Amino acid sequence: MNSKHGRIQSYEERFSGWLDVGEAFSFWKGRVALYAILKALGVGEGDEVILPGYTCVMDVNPIKYLGAKPVYVDIEPATFNINTDLLPEKITDRTRVIVAQHTYGYPCDMDAIIDIAARRNVAVIEDCCLALGGEYKGKVLGTFGRAAYFSMQWNKPYTTGLGGMAITNDSDIAQKIRTLCQDSMSSPTGREVIMLTAQLAVYRMFIYPRTTALAQSIFRYLTKKGAVVGSSATSEFTPTMADDFFKGLSTVQSRSGLRQLKKLRRNIEHRRKTAQLYDELLAEKGWTPRQYDRAVMNPVMVRYPVRIGEKTEALQRAAGAGIELGSWFESPLHPAETPLQVYDYDMGLCPQAEAASSQVVNLPLHPRVSEATVRRTVEFICRFTQSG
Ligand SMILES: Cc1ncc(COP(=O)(O)O)c(C=O)c1O
Repeated sequence: MNSKHGRIQSYEERFSGWLDVGEAFSFWKGRVALYAILKALGVGEGDEVILPGYTCVMDVNPIKYLGAKPVYVDIEPATFNINTDLLPEKITDRTRVIVAQHTYGYPCDMDAIIDIAARRNVAVIEDCCLALGGEYKGKVLGTFGRAAYFSMQWNKPYTTGLGGMAITNDSDIAQKIRTLCQDSMSSPTGREVIMLTAQLAVYRMFIYPRTTALAQSIFRYLTKKGAVVGSSATSEFTPTMADDFFKGLSTVQSRSGLRQLKKLRRNIEHRRKTAQLYDELLAEKGWTPRQYDRAVMNPVMVRYPVRIGEKTEALQRAAGAGIELGSWFESPLHPAETPLQVYDYDMGLCPQAEAASSQVVNLPLHPRVSEATVRRTVEFICRFTQSG
């Protein structure tokens, strides 16, 4: 039986208050939040869970841990979100859940998803890991489905090093998550907390757009050596749940989260303005900027995706030029080294997602990105050819 530290509880309350939802539950990572929601919905052996074939494999793991089957739907090319025209044919008698992932921050077509789900008696979970604060028809993302989850890992809308949050307005789901946490959630170890504290300090002091590429390669190396708390351990590339997977947040993360929430409005404003500047500068260069339905969508992007013809070369050159360039998603189930078949994905299943993963690079939008950085990044990227 677990009792929650006061600071963690106040972080959860501030988070749910910020989104104006019933309850929030914090976890060690976003994927743990998804696991808790799926479990609360009773997803188990033989059930099917629908999600876009353009996601992070860490999102698929909780489905597999529960013995359910991931069913992938291809994306529509402009927003990289689930193509709702393809959705009905993927629903079977075994479908329990549709995961509506708001990719890069673009809201999914929630009207269509909620409508299809209601007609087929399927629950909707929103994956808001890349989309904190965005709106669809004036309503904030995360409040459309039965529950939603968020990530506060290094690259996310705001970071607590690692971290996840589940939210719900459904008192039955809330009660089930609460019981699950009380009965079986473990706490981070002392070593994990010390390492994460040090990493957060390094991040605050040294990680700026020019240093990001170098920092990421050092970080990946240290993760493999077990010298830092990485986002994903090697064991997480197999669909078998580790003994310590179901873990809560540390007070260090909750303290950081409380600080970040105070700055969230400014963070969101910055992301909107910076994305708009990319739109304008790319258009000046003759590139096609973001294409989405402005009458219904008000996105807050985590990164700004562009499709280019020379993805591998651009990523290599960016690292040398001190340009922060993201590679998400490198594969229909990011990252590139994911053993796709183990996760029930056969190449050819989602052609649009496969094309996107070979073309998309993403430009930074986080609070440390200045106007000068945006201009330098656009100059850099426009040396390549836009594709798609
Ligand atoms: C779309 C999406 N959902 C969920 C997750 C999982 O989040 P976390 O790393 O906090 O477990 C990721 C991972 O980065 C992601 O990209």
